[in-house]
Amino acid sequence: MSEPLRVVVLVSGSGTNLQALLDAASDPSYPVSVVAVGADRDAIEGLARAERAGIPTFVHRVPDFETREAWDEALTASVSSFEPDLVVSAGFMKLVGDAFLSRYAGRFLNTHPALSPSFPGMHGPADALAYGVKVSGCTLFVVDSGVDTGPIVAQAAVPVLDGDSAESLHERIKTSERAMLVEAVGRIAREGFSVDGRVVRFGR
Ligand code: GAR
Repeated sequence: MSEPLRVVVLVSGSGTNLQALLDAASDPSYPVSVVAVGADRDAIEGLARAERAGIPTFVHRVPDFETREAWDEALTASVSSFEPDLVVSAGFMKLVGDAFLSRYAGRFLNTHPALSPSFPGMHGPADALAYGVKVSGCTLFVVDSGVDTGPIVAQAAVPVLDGDSAESLHERIKTSERAMLVEAVGRIAREGFSVDGRVVRFGR
């Protein structure tokens, strides 16, 4: 059997998407190894999940650096020390800079709780609810220099229900998001993927 895909996951909060990857990767038939977890803040459940799984962690807080570029370079160096094949931002609430993007171009994925290109940014579920859409969902995409604009790897649709709050909609989206992430990262590990303009295809 070939080596598992080496994945570094970046988190800022509860880390339930990370946990879904960790749970999947505990099955030897899932060809993915989460080799490290990075964060932009301390004392979050996402880091605790990694520690419980015995996975190395690192934290780089933006306010601890003189410039955003210095933070970006530290993040790039820490991620690179684990030699990942793929980096997954799973609830990582920071935009990376040029150093990171150029090092991981085409190998850096982000999961977003809306159906792109609708509702980019930090408040996908609340923005979808305020707009009155009846269907929202989640999007896994290849990060480019825009905000949630990169080529789409996978999406899942989720209904908006009467009486939803931003929180209840987000929780419903996250249930689909975890399954989407596990499925897509598994396919990338087994089949590879390519990006042609805006179109992503699995396969080598
Ligand atoms: C996920 O829904 C993710 O898409 C979202 O944060 C949540 C993290 O959940 N990310 C963004 O909104 C980024 N724009 P988790 O920490 O439980 O995995």
